[in-house]
Amino acid sequence: MQDYQSVRDQSVKICSSLEIEDYIVQPHDFVSPPKWHLGHTTWYFETFCLREFFKSEPFNPHYHFLFNSYYESQGEHVPQGRRGVCSRPTVSEVLAYRRHIDGRMREAESMIATRDPESRETWRNVVEVGIHHEQQHQELLYMDIKHILSHQREQPALAGAPNDSATETAARTWREFRAGVFETGWSEPGFAYDSERPRHRVFLEDFRIREGLVSNAEFHEFIEDGGYQRPELWLADGWAWVKASAIRAPLYWTAPGKQYSLQGEREIDPGSAVAHVSCFEADAFARWKKCRLPTEAEWEAAFGEEPCAQLWQWTNSAYLPYPGYKPFPGALMEYNGKFMSGQMVLRGGCLATPEGHYRSTYRNFFYPHMRWMFSGVRLCDS
Ligand SMILES: [Fe+2]
Repeated sequence: MQDYQSVRDQSVKICSSLEIEDYIVQPHDFVSPPKWHLGHTTWYFETFCLREFFKSEPFNPHYHFLFNSYYESQGEHVPQGRRGVCSRPTVSEVLAYRRHIDGRMREAESMIATRDPESRETWRNVVEVGIHHEQQHQELLYMDIKHILSHQREQPALAGAPNDSATETAARTWREFRAGVFETGWSEPGFAYDSERPRHRVFLEDFRIREGLVSNAEFHEFIEDGGYQRPELWLADGWAWVKASAIRAPLYWTAPGKQYSLQGEREIDPGSAVAHVSCFEADAFARWKKCRLPTEAEWEAAFGEEPCAQLWQWTNSAYLPYPGYKPFPGALMEYNGKFMSGQMVLRGGCLATPEGHYRSTYRNFFYPHMRWMFSGVRLCDS
């Protein structure tokens, strides 16, 4: 398990070069203000650790409403799209909340040692989910801060951010696999989310999968070939989205040859992997290439031994429970299972994924039109 305090400190560090005004802005419903992330990750430990195990009094009675994300078992919460309306509590008050809860968590760690073994085990599991939850929000912080800063006229950089303006693409060679039974999902001891379990068998037909991700140059060819104007390349929902949102290029392609990155505005590097495409765009591109997206089982069979990647890769697998899925116990049953409707799986990790957070069985998931995550395209073929 990663150290509690070092993970907590990292969230504050990611935001440390922001101006105070940047902490509050919410340009879209799906983007949360950085201040909200800092409060919400703290609310997790206050709610599921301190209040659950020690019946502790709330730090502030309003915070339970303001920083609950979607846990219906915890009562009412501020609607997601209204998080940016809250100018109070202030950023400094939220940072004080973090320090207070961190202090209480240190005290709790020593008190829990006197409890029975079952309570200690439950505590350890809930804290561990909380640490991974905080790391998930660290990646969301990079996504959300990038979106917020991209809306600013001067296109500012985020000091200390990972380099997202030049990623590597490996060769356009293919890995080939013969049909057979493969195992997928998490089986090792150690932490994994409930949605990665249990490990189970899948049968895969012959397939080949490309070593390197699709490059900016390849995606530019797709655009030049009228890719965004050809309905035959698109899923019906994707075509409706392209028309309704007037989509003509990946997100953050701000002007011909230019993109917004966490380093500010940069030239688009033709050799780097294309990023910030939706599942609809990835799917249309693959169809244009006379290929398809991999299933998540194909992806895992091919790249299960590889380290964290630079971009998440869309699969054509819906985010559904594995056979024999059991949600986390208690209130944390709301963590993953209830989102298994209408979303697609991404695999591979990305440059903003915190060290120690990624596993090869990790199932990220988003709605197919979303593209503010660090997402790329990997091609597959039968
Ligand atoms: Fe959360």
